Amino acid sequence: MKHNLLRALGAFALCSVASVMPAQTAAPSYTFPPADLMNVGVYYYPEAWPASQWPRDMANIRKLGMEFVHMGEFAWAFMEPTEGHFDFAWLDQNIALAAAQGLKIVLCTPSPTPPVWLTEKHPEVLMVDAAGHTQVHGTRQHATWSSEIYRGYVAKIVHELGRRYGHDARIWGWQLDNELSHYGKEPDFSAPSQKKFQAWLQKKYGTIAALNRDWGTAFWSQLYQRFDQVRLPNPQEYVAQFNPQQMLDSQRWFADEAADYLRFQTEILRQYCSHTQWITTNHMHDFGAVNPALTARDFDVVAWTLYPVHGNANRGPLGFRLGDPAVLTFAADFMRSLNGQAGIMELQPGQVNWGEVNPQPYPGAVHLWIMRAFAAGSKFVCAYRYREPLSGAEMYHYGFVGPDGVTTTTGGEQYAQAARELAQLRAVAQPGAPLPPAYAARRSAILYNYDNRWDLDNHKQNKGWDSYEHLLKYHRALSRAGAPIDVITEDKDFSTFAFLIAPAYQLLDAPLVARWKTYVENGGHLILSCRTGQKDRRGFLWEGPWAAPILDLIGAKIKFYDTLPAPNTGHVKAGDQSHEWFTWGDVLVPGDGTQTLATYTDHYYAGSVAAVTRKLGKGRVTYIGADSTNGSLEAQIVREEFARAGVAAENFPEGFAVDFRDGLWIATNFTENPVSAPVPAGAKILVGTATVPIAGVTVWRP
Ligand code: GAL
Repeated sequence: MKHNLLRALGAFALCSVASVMPAQTAAPSYTFPPADLMNVGVYYYPEAWPASQWPRDMANIRKLGMEFVHMGEFAWAFMEPTEGHFDFAWLDQNIALAAAQGLKIVLCTPSPTPPVWLTEKHPEVLMVDAAGHTQVHGTRQHATWSSEIYRGYVAKIVHELGRRYGHDARIWGWQLDNELSHYGKEPDFSAPSQKKFQAWLQKKYGTIAALNRDWGTAFWSQLYQRFDQVRLPNPQEYVAQFNPQQMLDSQRWFADEAADYLRFQTEILRQYCSHTQWITTNHMHDFGAVNPALTARDFDVVAWTLYPVHGNANRGPLGFRLGDPAVLTFAADFMRSLNGQAGIMELQPGQVNWGEVNPQPYPGAVHLWIMRAFAAGSKFVCAYRYREPLSGAEMYHYGFVGPDGVTTTTGGEQYAQAARELAQLRAVAQPGAPLPPAYAARRSAILYNYDNRWDLDNHKQNKGWDSYEHLLKYHRALSRAGAPIDVITEDKDFSTFAFLIAPAYQLLDAPLVARWKTYVENGGHLILSCRTGQKDRRGFLWEGPWAAPILDLIGAKIKFYDTLPAPNTGHVKAGDQSHEWFTWGDVLVPGDGTQTLATYTDHYYAGSVAAVTRKLGKGRVTYIGADSTNGSLEAQIVREEFARAGVAAENFPEGFAVDFRDGLWIATNFTENPVSAPVPAGAKILVGTATVPIAGVTVWRP
């Protein structure tokens, strides 16, 4: 047994060394002027409004203090009304009108909305959903990116746009496509997708024998003889459970294919604009089928979209009106860490129309979101959208102006307020100012990998397990401690962070564990949580003790794990505090020199160990084996870890955060009570008041 384990670990150590060496992230080539801090802008759809209203609308956008306007991501049928005949006169006019107002322009490639003539002529470019239905014209994102025919048409329109606007100084930057996805209907099961998946597998595995080995197809006689026998796994076509290794690979393929499609458009545009205009896409704010890390180096800035309030229950009594700050900030900390520059391409200015319930945001919430994005380092925030549509699928969606096209909504006013404040802050900010030492001492990172989330979600073991919430618990814990947080991928250098948390890091290999060990020996504080290290990168369990590769590191064995059917819960005691859990609990057996931090207090294993810590070299490793229901265990142990490290931490109420950026402190209050901001005597308050009201923002200078 031992021998097999060592062989397995050795084999994976060898084959994955290349993939885990920290690579230098290329600096983006377009640099946003630091003195601008953050620009604000808004979406406008000229093609949807009478030409007579364009000048009025552009002037009003400017009057609200906007600095840029975003156009064109759904306008293919207007740009190329019939095949090969292009019409940009309407766009030229709007660019001229915007520029005359001093607005910068973000242009888009219109690839999410093929014109009807295209899909009529080539129905084979339409995507196919899991039920086998070919999608039809009449919505968006209904074409397959894997079709060479579709890509041919996309290439033509992108070349046209690049030729016409790639050297135009009025164009600030580009957004490719729109929220690349099929809006939850991923993956696409069309014939071109199946073929590209097979080709991807052939490239990855070389031989079908290697695929059979790494997918464990001996189980249930799933053996394949040729790559063209393999299909994208579609649970709707299977009478029983799917093969998890096949599923994980199909998710990796889909994300790679999306990245390839974005790269294909980027490469065309770069021929015209190089890096004088920035290029990005607008990713959805949270994890899905498209992984922003895969294109981070292709883009000058990583951009994303955010709708904090859409009937989601959220935390606390006002959560449904304020949104969850951890959701916003986790995404901001991830996107920014990818290549150093990030912006929010879409942020709701009020009610939306697509939630199951679409409540009003809390008064001031829109301003709160904008300023929280600022605090998290955004280069820009763009409102979705300027005008409330009178027809179409997004009726009832708020804009800056109501249905009459001129009356400013409260959301529009809050954007205008943020624009005025940012203009004032520019005068006093110190772009690039170093972090104050006490704050810098708390520098923390959360290690994040899409493979883990896919694999955890494919095999939850408890339907109540929520991988995203598990990550957010640790993000909230750090935020409450007042730490500057980066959400990083494995290519980053761990040594620049005092604290590194790898929550539920299920898939790993020996080189990653070795990097963690070195990090700790050199003084780092590493926190691992339940479900870490259970599998190799293929998604196989180790042929050895449970979570074999991390046991030496954490100084404990994992005897077994338990998971409880709600409403049955369990409890863990840490110090004098008790915490509830039910989704996952590892029962630990600490080795010599390993200290117990928490124990189970009920069920048949009452008294056994739930969390441990040990010193290693100049640092420390902590393992938290239980996933507490509301994150209170995680918050307590993270706070204690700061104390063990001798680093002074804050103890902010959950939802209240204080961040530092460009020489400014920014406090944002998402709680349901006023909170007093830690403004030191003598500091100058620039925005807001020392007591931060609900949905309030306070900015001060040291
Ligand atoms: C976004 C999408 C926009 C618009 C918006 C409405 O997810 O990217 O195009 O549909 O939702 O809230």
